[in-house]
Amino acid sequence: MTKLTTDEGQPWADNNHSLTAGNRGPVLLQDYQLIEKLAHFNRERIPERVVHAKGAGAKGVFTLTRDMSDYTKADLFNGKGKQTPLTIRFSEVAGELGYPDTIRDVRGFSIKFYTNEGNYDIVGNNTPIFFVNDPLKFPDFIHSQKRDPATHLRSEDMQWDFWSHSPESLHQVTYLMGDRGNPASYANMNGYGSHTFKWVNAKGEAYWVKYHFISEQGVKNMTEDQAAEVASENTDYLIQDLYDRIKNGDYPKWKVCVQLIPYEEGLNYKYDIFDVTKTVSHKDYPLQEIGEFVLNENPENYFNDVEEASFSPANLVPGIEPSMDKLLQGRLFAYKDAARYRLGANYEHLPVNSPKTEVHNYARDGYMSQGQNGDVNYEPNQYEDAPREDPHAKIKPFAVEGEANSYKTYDEDPYSQAGALYHVYSDDEKDRLIQAIKKHLGSVKSHDTKVRQTKLFYRADHDYGKRVADALGLNMDEITE
Ligand code: HEM
Repeated sequence: MTKLTTDEGQPWADNNHSLTAGNRGPVLLQDYQLIEKLAHFNRERIPERVVHAKGAGAKGVFTLTRDMSDYTKADLFNGKGKQTPLTIRFSEVAGELGYPDTIRDVRGFSIKFYTNEGNYDIVGNNTPIFFVNDPLKFPDFIHSQKRDPATHLRSEDMQWDFWSHSPESLHQVTYLMGDRGNPASYANMNGYGSHTFKWVNAKGEAYWVKYHFISEQGVKNMTEDQAAEVASENTDYLIQDLYDRIKNGDYPKWKVCVQLIPYEEGLNYKYDIFDVTKTVSHKDYPLQEIGEFVLNENPENYFNDVEEASFSPANLVPGIEPSMDKLLQGRLFAYKDAARYRLGANYEHLPVNSPKTEVHNYARDGYMSQGQNGDVNYEPNQYEDAPREDPHAKIKPFAVEGEANSYKTYDEDPYSQAGALYHVYSDDEKDRLIQAIKKHLGSVKSHDTKVRQTKLFYRADHDYGKRVADALGLNMDEITE
């Protein structure tokens, strides 16, 4: 028999009857177990993630099937056959904890690789692009997706008001309103690093890289009606599906592919490769398969393994560096700041976030510190065995140019790639896209918002715009004026 103890390990005699003065009470302050139990219960909730609050996680392994040392010195991509353990978290973006899993939304796709040179995170989505490309716009964008401050209801009016005033969102909106806005399961989604990153090899040569995780289960989606039905029956459908697959040994797998772009070519590509609202053509830079990962272990404790997990695009390892993508640069700050707020200054000491490698530096103390052994807490110092800088981790110097200013972000063409995506959709997919837009944009109260947004669709592709106008009963003269 396992004996009941307090959190301090003391044997605990009674977990069902409070200590009272006499049979009828009152309760005594002396009942330390009762007071601790109530106090701890009051502190069980931590702030949920401000975005991507609801999600599912698992553990797995990445296997490198092609040595990539010609392109990056990153340890996890060097040495064919190398295996790296990982934690993954899939998520909804807009809804809170408890929100139904199958509401149309982009889905998060975060991976933490526990490499031999510390943690490397890829914090992506199930779409290769994003709604905005300047970090100043992110909080406003998310406010439009969250609840109306007065009614506390989510609001199509807010969402489409923002999108229709932000043409750079058109490409992603065309994805979101398409079939991929309702994945059939997390195992049936592709994942993308979305941004362009920099790889640097041991010789100091740099390449631009984009990550693609291709589901070996195939991409499968739900129709709007199926998703609504599931939402009413099982709000946690996607979490359960992932958990059950792994429990039943039906381990989901993804091929890991990259697009590699030579450094100078990337700087002169026809689209700005640092604009995260754009893709880079697979014809120009084909996908190259470099490995596979499998998810083969469920969380043992959801709170510890998933809720306390903290991912950050700033978690990089030698051989992988950020690009000048402005949105990515904003993200390099945001996630670690969010982790300090949500989990505390020592969130990296939590088991799910701590690297499998040793940590040696001069940071000390703070709430919940698990400490670092060694008694030297300053540098420079006289001790030979104290931690020393590692020049192997130096970034590749890069040139910057121009005058400091608040520049208009990237080019003026948010339309072509949205139009091209519309063209890629089959006739059935186009029908469902128009129906989804009819449902969502159609429920907006403001006529001006409907017209403004439909003009964007029309500029992306005339047929696209005409079909939306038709579905919404808008006059084409207003769209083409
Ligand atoms: C979560 C900020 C853009 C994917 C978060 C969180 C913040 C945040 C604060 C919560 C983190 C936490 O509490 O642990 C931002 C900012 C962005 C941005 C400021 C733009 C400037 C993006 C983009 C993507 C993305 C472009 C995908 C390509 C995710 C994912 C999560 C997340 C997947 C969930 C991470 C997890 O599973 O714990 N974001 N985000 N975000 N974001 Fe972003």
